[in-house]
Amino acid sequence: MERSHASDALPNRTNAGAKGHPGVVAARQTRTRTMRRDLLLLKVLQSPSLGPAIRWLVDPQRVLHVGMGFWSSRVVLTAVEIGLFTELAKRPRPLQEVIDHFGWHPRAAHAFLEALVGLELLTRDAASVYANSRQAALFLDRAQPSYLGGLLELSSTRLYDLWSGLGDLLKTGRPQAKEDPDGNDFFGTLYRDPEALRKFLSGMTGISMGEAVPIAAHFPWKRFKTFVDIGAAQGVLPVVVALTHSHLTGASYDLAAVQPIFEDYIASFDLSERLRFLPGDMHAGPLPSADVICFGHLLHGFGEEKRRTLIAKSYAALPPGGTILIYDAMIAAGRRRNYVSFLSSLNIMLETRDGFEATTDQCAQWLRDAGFVRVTTRHVLGPTSMVFGFKPQGARQ
Ligand SMILES: C[S@@+](CC[C@H](N)C(=O)[O-])C[C@H]1O[C@@H](n2cnc3c(N)ncnc32)[C@H](O)[C@@H]1O
Repeated sequence: MERSHASDALPNRTNAGAKGHPGVVAARQTRTRTMRRDLLLLKVLQSPSLGPAIRWLVDPQRVLHVGMGFWSSRVVLTAVEIGLFTELAKRPRPLQEVIDHFGWHPRAAHAFLEALVGLELLTRDAASVYANSRQAALFLDRAQPSYLGGLLELSSTRLYDLWSGLGDLLKTGRPQAKEDPDGNDFFGTLYRDPEALRKFLSGMTGISMGEAVPIAAHFPWKRFKTFVDIGAAQGVLPVVVALTHSHLTGASYDLAAVQPIFEDYIASFDLSERLRFLPGDMHAGPLPSADVICFGHLLHGFGEEKRRTLIAKSYAALPPGGTILIYDAMIAAGRRRNYVSFLSSLNIMLETRDGFEATTDQCAQWLRDAGFVRVTTRHVLGPTSMVFGFKPQGARQ
């Protein structure tokens, strides 16, 4: 609690006669008032009836929980990175077996596993055997198709450090990711390291898997026969759309380095006949033609001018009646809590020079400006919204 001290108010002369100085008297009165208020607050907090109510209204734990969130974050990211959940999925184990398996020093092992029990990612039974919780078994075991840990692995190795530069981003507006000497080619820089490429692409699957399900359900796919996902990464959206709508065939148009990773993923769903890979650079030439052209978590990495150019290229590549579909963690007008979209905006600013999360209204306007009609906005999941618009039936291709 903030306190003022009488000595702070002393004028710059000897103490003789200072006691009665008006500044000293005022400071003493302020201090007395502050102490009375602190004492009253202490008594209220200690009261069995009022204390819990006040703590419910103003709980310091909530502030600490957010501020110290990196403790929990680091514990979970480390557990994912070393493959703890994948090992425990094979067989629950007591502490000593976990220590032996990973070759840990015993000092921190117990605290680490107990923290994960507290975070409800592990359970410990009466015989002190640790096992995955239901959430961890489903989402954090690398052997499961529902594995979300790719995003967490990426966060652990890349985003965690980038976010330490937030203060610098605020001062300079500059990204904290290593910039390419030839410009700000985020993907070019990232993809030079094959391990970073693999982690990034499976991280994208982690982000987009949950969103692909409602997009496959709540977009009018039945009207169309073909689609191309620009920058599909591993291909989670094409897979979920193809599994939901057996009449559709599709493609990913992505940088050539992504091809083997896309093809492995597609083959694991037995979809190689219906989904193919088109290598190319979306900035370089025209976009491939299809009834639906999708951009997922891609446009947010560029400034407005580049986004408008890509929207115009999509318009040119679509047949009359065809549709552009954009999804991103857009800031939605009228949604009460947009803070995850704002966090996502900071993340893309830390990564790229011009990126930002647009509002859904902004995106809808870009589509209208390019000539699209019946522009529609729908919430997808969490911070993510989709905006789609139709090329008029009478338009020339
Ligand atoms: C952030 S990921 C988005 C992945 C996916 N659409 C999703 O929502 O999960 C961006 C994807 O766009 C691809 N990409 C980046 N620049 C590209 C370019 N110039 N041409 C084609 N694809 C590009 C990347 O390789 C990556 O697969």
